[in-house]
Amino acid sequence: MRVTHILGWLAWSLHASATILQNGQEREDPWPGQASVITLDDSWKTYEADAPEIAFKGRWDSKHVSSPGIKTEFTGNKLAVSFGSSTNDGALVAYRVGNLDWQYSNVTADATYQFVGDTSELGEVPADTGKVFEMRVQIASVSSAGDAHLNVPPRFEKKVEVIGGSVAAGQYGTYETLSSWSWLLVAGLGNVEHTITAYPGVCLVDKQCYGGQSHGIGWYWHRASDPGSRARAVYGDEPEEFDVKGDQATDLFLIQMGGNDHRHPNEIPGRNYYHGYIDLIDDLHKTHPHATVLLVSQWGSWKQDGLSFVPNEVYEDEHRAIHEHYKDQGFVYYFSTKGLLQHNDINPKNHPTDVGHIKLASHLLQWVRLVLRWELEPLGEVTHGTLYWNNQQEY
Ligand SMILES: *[C@@H]1O[C@H](CO)[C@@H](O)[C@H](O)[C@H]1NC(C)=O
Repeated sequence: MRVTHILGWLAWSLHASATILQNGQEREDPWPGQASVITLDDSWKTYEADAPEIAFKGRWDSKHVSSPGIKTEFTGNKLAVSFGSSTNDGALVAYRVGNLDWQYSNVTADATYQFVGDTSELGEVPADTGKVFEMRVQIASVSSAGDAHLNVPPRFEKKVEVIGGSVAAGQYGTYETLSSWSWLLVAGLGNVEHTITAYPGVCLVDKQCYGGQSHGIGWYWHRASDPGSRARAVYGDEPEEFDVKGDQATDLFLIQMGGNDHRHPNEIPGRNYYHGYIDLIDDLHKTHPHATVLLVSQWGSWKQDGLSFVPNEVYEDEHRAIHEHYKDQGFVYYFSTKGLLQHNDINPKNHPTDVGHIKLASHLLQWVRLVLRWELEPLGEVTHGTLYWNNQQEY
């Protein structure tokens, strides 16, 4: 793990440690799909990062240093992506074509990798039709075959935003964000645009945590960059503003905060937390007046007491009071996570295991289906790399 700044790193960059352990065993080929470095020649047509054919997802800044997701539709039988100078050495990117399974590749700065072509592990990909390519990272450009082209991919009608800290970011999950409840929720809905603004270590309150230096999530919501060291190296303390209104209204916000405000060294008093939360919801509501806001409660730790494990929750009274505050307005809902997770769904440091994330996401999906009456239309796999529980009939 690379923790170079107190607030950690960006949700979309996967910085898992060098091996993935499953039940103490090393996973073979943990990141299938490694792409090879190529040199672009006349057989390629290149689109710069700001070309309209490349749709950015999540947050991005004018230098494309923030690591957003990209989506583009390409024709032809090959596709390459060039990475910008601020890409971390060996950074892991996740990508997929159409609704096939996610693939992974380590990439590095100022280099071009071929993700689709004869040598890629995708199997048969139809050459003539448009195919959506999707990736999570900082890029410099995207190249298609010279006689083919890129298109703007179609956009889903609804939009979901998740706001949170390391739990929502999927920290310690096998594939980090791709293993998080946030991702499993939006991928499980399938038919939604989505953005996950979740930074490990971030507090709800502004400039009260970590000795008063660090900004809260409400401040970051208006910024293109995350709190990580890579963004700081480029923008210092003044990251670019992000257009939070954008060109598509948000229909549903999910917020899960409290874990960092509550813990040492922060221990933010409940009143401050409450007021910070009201400010955040007011801000979201002002920007996206038609959005539903779902306040997801935050578990604390499970303690063994005699022969039982006893759970607790952080800021439970405050969360209920915030919900109460908006009762007449009707757009804020409260989602209690009580009883959904047990002590063995948590590991380490109050973060869910992969199974814990899956359980939470399943209940949230049910909430969205029953309360908002949205259809679930997942496109391809939702939980990556979980087949090992259990893909054999022998014991
Ligand atoms: C690929 O990325 C993973 C996850 O960050 C890392 O553990 C691994 O060392 C990287 N491999 C290379 C060759 O950079």
